Amino acid sequence: MSKPPPLLALLLAAVLGCGPDDPVTSLTREFDGAYPATVAATGAVREYTLDAAPTVLPMFDGRPLHVWAYDGTVPGPILRARVGERLRVTFTNRLPDDTTVHWHGVRLPNAMDGAPGVTQPPVKPGDTFVYDFVPRDAGTFWFHPHLRSSEQVERGLYGVLIVDEAKPPPYSRDVVWVLDDWRLGADGEIDPRFNTPGDLMHDGRWGNVVTVNGKLNEVLEVRPGERIRLRLLDTANGRVFEPDFGELTPQVIAVDGLYTPQPLPLGGFELAPGNRLDLDLTVPSDWSGREIVVTDRFTRRPFPLATIRVAGEPVPTPDFPSPAQGYVPTWRVPDEVPVTTIDIDARRGGPFGIEWTLNGLAHVGHHAMTPLATLPRGRFAHLRFTNRSYRLHPMHIHGTFFKVLARNGSAVDEPYWRDTALVHPQETIDVGLVPLDVGDWMLHCHILEHAEAGMMTTVRVSDGS
Ligand code: C2O
Ligand code: CU
Repeated sequence: MSKPPPLLALLLAAVLGCGPDDPVTSLTREFDGAYPATVAATGAVREYTLDAAPTVLPMFDGRPLHVWAYDGTVPGPILRARVGERLRVTFTNRLPDDTTVHWHGVRLPNAMDGAPGVTQPPVKPGDTFVYDFVPRDAGTFWFHPHLRSSEQVERGLYGVLIVDEAKPPPYSRDVVWVLDDWRLGADGEIDPRFNTPGDLMHDGRWGNVVTVNGKLNEVLEVRPGERIRLRLLDTANGRVFEPDFGELTPQVIAVDGLYTPQPLPLGGFELAPGNRLDLDLTVPSDWSGREIVVTDRFTRRPFPLATIRVAGEPVPTPDFPSPAQGYVPTWRVPDEVPVTTIDIDARRGGPFGIEWTLNGLAHVGHHAMTPLATLPRGRFAHLRFTNRSYRLHPMHIHGTFFKVLARNGSAVDEPYWRDTALVHPQETIDVGLVPLDVGDWMLHCHILEHAEAGMMTTVRVSDGS
C-alpha cells in the first residue's frame, strides 16, 4: 500500500481544524498512510445475483442434508472483484425467514452494511435488495446474514468475497479454505435446537463435525515447488481454530483482509469466528509423494482439518517478494483521547434465560439502538474491552479496521489490522482506530449465540467534532 498524497493529509488537517503540531492531527496523518480513505473507481462494474434458499445437498456421507444456502452450495459462491471496481449484488431472499447480507470486514457506505434495523429493513421472503459498493481494500472477506444469524449461518448461509489488487501477486494458485463446524443430530441433519442454554452460557454452538469447504476430508493436491496463497476463514458460530501445518512453514501475509507489514510466522495465531488469515505457502520441490496433515490445535484434543497431497513433477517456484507490505503506524496514544470502556458480562434474564451485556445493556432482536459511543470521523478513538466473564468473545466492529494496543494493560505491538479480536476469559484488550465512514456501525461478539442473546451494540461515527 502506498503513502497517501500529502494533499489528503493537508485536507484532513484542515477539516479537523488542528495545527500541524497537534498530536491528534499527527496521529491521524500517521494513520492515513495505513489504508486509503477512498479509492479511485475503475468504472468497471461486477454484477452478481445471489439467492438464499432452503436446499438439499448430498453432504458428508452422501445422505441428503437440508441446509439454507446461497446459490445452492455450502459454502456459498466465491464472489470476486478488483479493488476499485463497483460490485452490484442483486440479492433475493427465498428463505422462509427475513434476512440481510452483511459484508464482513468490508469498508463500504453505511447503507450497504446489511445490519437490519440499523442500516436497512430486513429483506422479507420473496424480496430483493441490491448491494452496491466499491471495495476499497484488496483482501479476503466474507458475507453472511445479520439476522437470527446463530440459526441462518449455522444452516449454511455464508460465502466468500475476494477483492483482488489491480495486479495480483503471481502465486502458483490462490486457494480458499472455509473452516466451519456443524452440529448434526442422530438423523444426520442439522440439529434444529438453536440458541440452547448451554450454547448461550458457554462459547456458542460448537459442532460435532468440522468441515473445510463443506467437506470432511478436504484434500489439496499440489505439485512440488508450487507457491500458494491460502486464504483461511472461520465461519463457525463459535469454534476457534489454530491450524498447524506440521513441517510446512506457511507465513501469514494478511490478517482480516489487509496485508501485514511483513510476513509473520503462523505459530500463535488463533482464527476466531469472523477472522481471516492469508498464508504464503511454498511446497518444497523435493516433496513429491508426501502428504501433510493440517491439524487443529486450539482445543486440548487436536484433530485433522485437511490434507495437502504433493504429487507429480516439480514446477518452478514463482519468485517474487512477499506481498505483505501494509503500513501499520506505531501509535502514540495521546492522553487527551478518552477511553470508551466496553464491559462484557452475562446475567440471567431475557427471552433466552441468559443475556450477554455490553456495559450492562443487552440488545435482543433487530431494531434501532442507542449507540454505545459517538466517535468523530477521522479522529483517533480508543476502546477498551473488559471481559468480566470466563468465556471467549471475538469482538467485531463493522466498517473499520482497528489495531490492538494493549492486553491486560500491557502494551503489545500487533503489527497488523483486524476487524475481529478474540478477547479471552477475564482479559482486557485496548484497541485503537480512526473511523473514516460516517454512520451507525455494529459492534458485537462474533460468537453468534452471544450476539443473539444481547451482545450487540452500535458505535456512531459522526461528521465533524
Ligand atoms: Cu461477520 Cu456483524 O458480522
Ligand atoms: Cu461473546
